[in-house]
Amino acid sequence: MPADVITICEVGTRDGFQIEPEFIPTELKIEAVNRLSAVGIPRLEVTSFVHPKAVPQLRDAEEVMARIERRPGTIYAALVPNDKGATRAVDAGVDKIHTVLSASESHNLANVNMTVAESLTKLEAVAHVAHKAGIPLQGGISCSFGCPFEIDVPLQNLEAIVVRLVACGFQAIGLADTTGMANPAQVRRTLKYLRPKFPGIEWTLHTHNTRAMAIPNILAAVECGVRHFDASIGGLGGCPFAPGATGNVCTEDLVHCLHAMGYETGIDLDGLIEVSKRVQEIIGRELPGQVMKAGKWNRRYKVPHTVEERLAALAS
Ligand code: COA
Ligand code: ZN
Repeated sequence: MPADVITICEVGTRDGFQIEPEFIPTELKIEAVNRLSAVGIPRLEVTSFVHPKAVPQLRDAEEVMARIERRPGTIYAALVPNDKGATRAVDAGVDKIHTVLSASESHNLANVNMTVAESLTKLEAVAHVAHKAGIPLQGGISCSFGCPFEIDVPLQNLEAIVVRLVACGFQAIGLADTTGMANPAQVRRTLKYLRPKFPGIEWTLHTHNTRAMAIPNILAAVECGVRHFDASIGGLGGCPFAPGATGNVCTEDLVHCLHAMGYETGIDLDGLIEVSKRVQEIIGRELPGQVMKAGKWNRRYKVPHTVEERLAALAS
């Protein structure tokens, strides 16, 4: 893969939809997934196979997976916390399994009702299910850069988790900044420490823009050689079990930034912006995405010549 290609995984229909209080009709979830794949999003975390009481919004995971259009070459993944979720995901025909555990004990308990050690045992069982089905695995680690309950998360704890995941056959690791606590210097330090220790592992950064540091963090990771990023259409997103968690980095804002810098994503940005506007209608409120409001960097305004034109330009 050329060094200037960056792969985006869209997580809006999982990380985004999961915090929406009103049930989003299954039809509309399917429409969102289909529109996202149609504009060239190469990977999607479509939904999650968790307990329906924990995340009632995604209780239709099976139906969504069964009814989306499968665009050839697109990877349709789902998030699972345990082997029960993995079995459901395999039966539903996912291309890839993304797992979840947290680098912090308090957040792991709040999120999946397990200690980190218990989660790791469950993830070994997930690996068994995935290997049997011949499905690749990506291990997401929540609160990799900080926890809203514990603040600091020692790098050694993160490393110990990666060691366990790699040992049971995970090919990819996703470092998640669940509540937007990471800063670019920390991202650089973490990646420079971890990446050389695990050759052959694909690294993904999963960011939330809670404190306006998501794109700076992503650019720091790009500098360190990371080429895979999660993002959420319109900037949807948040964790129901992490106080203060707000939206992920906005997909179209990130794609806009990367394209402006000369990176390729294979995504049709104009089409993506239209999808974001449609998702905004589906959700029924304004989303944080900025490029859908401002237009692309090369949006050209007509030079005003008359007073009326000047006033019209100010209003646009
Ligand atoms: N899907 C559906 N049902 C599940 C399940 C899954 N992935 N995992 C467990 N269950 C069921 C069990 O079968 C059991 O059912 P039963 O009572 O009818 O026998 C019941 O849930 C309890 O099982 P247990 O293993 O004790 O789970 P728990 O109640 O401790 O919950 C999780 C653990 C992980 C299933 C739950 O906390 C969860 O789904 N969390 C998801 C959190 C999330 O999605 N966060 C946002 C993403 S980061
Ligand atoms: Zn997230």
